Amino acid sequence: RKIVTIVGARPQFIKVAPVSRELRKVYREILVNTGQHYDYKMSGIFFEELNIPKPDYDLGVGSASHGKQTGEMLTKIEEVLLQEKPDAVLVYGDTNSTLAGALAASKLHIPLFHVEAGLRSFNKRMPEEINRILTDHVSEILFAPTETAIQNLKNEGITKNVFHVGDVMYDAFVYYSQMAAEQYELNDFGVEEKQYILATIHRAENTDDLNRLKAIFESLAKLNETVLLPLHPRTENKLKEAGIESVLQATNLKVIPPISYLEMVFLENHAKAIVTDSGGVQKEAYFAKVPCFTLRDQTEWVETVEVGWNRLVNPIEENLAQIVGAWQPTTYNEHLYGNGDASSQIVNHIHLFFDEERGR
Ligand code: UD1
Ligand code: UDP
Repeated sequence: RKIVTIVGARPQFIKVAPVSRELRKVYREILVNTGQHYDYKMSGIFFEELNIPKPDYDLGVGSASHGKQTGEMLTKIEEVLLQEKPDAVLVYGDTNSTLAGALAASKLHIPLFHVEAGLRSFNKRMPEEINRILTDHVSEILFAPTETAIQNLKNEGITKNVFHVGDVMYDAFVYYSQMAAEQYELNDFGVEEKQYILATIHRAENTDDLNRLKAIFESLAKLNETVLLPLHPRTENKLKEAGIESVLQATNLKVIPPISYLEMVFLENHAKAIVTDSGGVQKEAYFAKVPCFTLRDQTEWVETVEVGWNRLVNPIEENLAQIVGAWQPTTYNEHLYGNGDASSQIVNHIHLFFDEERGR
């Protein structure tokens, strides 16, 4: 059996690492990298550090408008699928690479498997929300990380082949945390234990709205702690385009280029708090038992908010520094995101699917 896996953006490199390791024990995997992210620190570094197999196809699509980027991926993925004739296609998350893979596979009648199915923000202005909804509706097997995701799918009439397996990012976090602890010390980053805030900002709804973008950086500048900010290229570009890159010079801000996953896990584990708009980082804050402040109006990871470790903050209307100072997380539920074995559960379900298919 042959499975074509499609990845392209930073969070997908992290998700594919644990799943690919399990999948290759049983199946032949053909790895396709769309090239949506291409800077070394947004892409190559993860392949090296996480030992991700070299892609069989590098499509080199790169940055463009949504239509152009997704369209070019769709054309090129279709060519790969026609050539490889796989038994299934595996996609992750909610990026344009996910949607392109989903469309290409479904139009060729190749079974599509979606890892991280069922997440919803209920905000259709987010490109990710469109990508998720469309991908889920053409998927043959849906691997849901949470009960909420299962319920979201049910509400849209999707109940067949939906499996609650936990979160593959938790698998990665468990697997790599020890390695990160052995490799780094806080001195490497010029910060002290629980004396700094780790921040990441990249989401379109924040970077593409100048008022919001300004408010976010003003809020970060008012925090009482050192803020370590590995800067996503999108955010850097938007600040430059708007001519406001001087906001990066605030005295408490330590702006650094994007960092590796192990560096990120290490810094998450030792931070006093995390401020972010990333999906992955919200969960990792929870895994690391560090309070998280999410600069968005909704989150797909509602459990982190419900258990009291994540607080949504509107950077224009609310005072981030005051909220960070006052917020005390409460109870902790150890297995909110599974047991760290989502990847092997996924492979088991794939196995059963192929077995049933053979029997039909
Ligand atoms: C994409 C995903 C988003 C995900 C994020 C993870 C979509 C619609 N969005 O957003 O869901 O959270 O990845 O990081 O798929 N750029 C570079 N170098 C790179 C990559 C990007 O300079 O290696 C710059 C380019 O100016 C580009 C911009 O970042 O136009 C945005 O990149 P793109 O991949 O379109 O979207 P992200 O904002 O990264
Ligand atoms: N990440 C990283 N280096 C960074 C910033 C983030 O390795 O400089 C990791 C982070 O730990 C998480 C993933 O990238 O595992 C999240 O990706 P991102 O925030 O780009 O996208 P999202 O999860 O919001 O889609």
